[in-house]
Amino acid sequence: MMRMTWLITAINRRMMKLLVALALIAYIACDFLSLKNRSIQEQGELRIEQKIDEVCLVNWCFVLLIPSMSQKYPPVKFLSERDRKRILITGGAGFVGSHLTDKLMMDGHEVTVVDNFFTGRKRNVEHWIGHENFELINHDVVEPLYIEVDQIYHLASPASPPNYMYNPIKTLKTNTIGTLNMLGLAKRVGARLLLASTSEVYGDPEVHPQNEDYWGHVNPIGPRACYDEGKRVAETMCYAYMNHTRYDIVLQILQEYSEPICKYCKHNQILHFSCFTIKYVDLVNGLVSLMNGNISSPVNLGNPEEHTILEFAQLIKSLVVSRSQIQFLPEAQDDPQRRRPDIRKAKMLLGWEPVVPLEEGLNKTIQYFRRELEFQANNQYIPKPKAARMKKGRPRHN
Ligand SMILES: NC(=O)c1ccc[n+]([C@@H]2O[C@H](COP(=O)([O-])OP(=O)(O)OC[C@H]3O[C@@H](n4cnc5c(N)ncnc54)[C@H](O)[C@@H]3O)[C@@H](O)[C@H]2O)c1
Repeated sequence: MMRMTWLITAINRRMMKLLVALALIAYIACDFLSLKNRSIQEQGELRIEQKIDEVCLVNWCFVLLIPSMSQKYPPVKFLSERDRKRILITGGAGFVGSHLTDKLMMDGHEVTVVDNFFTGRKRNVEHWIGHENFELINHDVVEPLYIEVDQIYHLASPASPPNYMYNPIKTLKTNTIGTLNMLGLAKRVGARLLLASTSEVYGDPEVHPQNEDYWGHVNPIGPRACYDEGKRVAETMCYAYMNHTRYDIVLQILQEYSEPICKYCKHNQILHFSCFTIKYVDLVNGLVSLMNGNISSPVNLGNPEEHTILEFAQLIKSLVVSRSQIQFLPEAQDDPQRRRPDIRKAKMLLGWEPVVPLEEGLNKTIQYFRRELEFQANNQYIPKPKAARMKKGRPRHN
């Protein structure tokens, strides 16, 4: 039924365009013929009137034709005013954020993406640019933001170790000042806020698997502390806002890794490992159910399946049919030895658990990286994390 309606609407739109174009041609032809049979004075007056009419007509044609010709958006559900929400996604041009944007846009909501493009790319959301329900704002969450929204998914933060260790002070500011700004905004406009935290808040855990009540084992002065402690403070801020202002906030702890092979791990190091599909199908669904539910405490969303990094390396090697050698490098400082999310709370309260099988997820991940490599080979611009600007020989922290 939906398909039929869409088809009829699409045909109608094409017919409309054709009719408007024909009308324009016919009008110009008629005017040209009538002009030939008038006196010079009449012709002058007529020309002025004709010009005004033409400008109006052409304007109307532009209004009718141009937007519909250039609109090639993915299909979007229609939602009534009452059901349609105004949703802000900070970090919406990143990996998780862009898939969340797709889901919420296709569900028919109004989505505003706020991103400073540190690790995200415009390319991830460009297919929505120009859509009436979509807005992209180039903005750093460390600065206050004043907009009206109903829900806030606060995802802005570099997520992979090289990116968050690149400028530790900026990472701290993003997770602390940035979160404070978003909490302030949520309080001001009465929006529900979801914070994407991280399994790094558990550090190198001493209990296994980790449930949401575990306090963690984090080194506060190590190279990863800017991220781990930044997220821990962000959680504390949410907790404080919630308890002292009775505010509607949900914390969500992601437990995912997006790098296909961790080169810096000891071969027997065990990490739960999630794949691309787990993120954009399972994870995004988990985020949306959390936001629309009534939980206001941390919830682990992750894959409890455990494998050694060596097993992953071998599996990926066989899937890409590669003859590369697996190298063992010294492990990174404070890298957790073993981590596995306890997802019973998500299962019980949300009915959520990852459903994409490992090999299927890995194959999708491989396809994704193949497309990325092709994109790079075609010489297209790929933004890299920007170097911190230098001030008198020292990096400047934005
Ligand atoms: N992907 C994972 O495996 C994973 C695991 C645990 C937690 N998380 C959390 O989920 C969120 C999203 O992760 P991701 O994998 O999509 O990372 P990502 O790096 O792809 O996306 C993060 C986005 O935030 C933006 N950003 C960074 N600093 C910003 C700032 N100051 N102002 C505005 N925008 C800023 C980046 O440009 C990027 O678009 C992060 O908060 C991350 O900590 C992700």
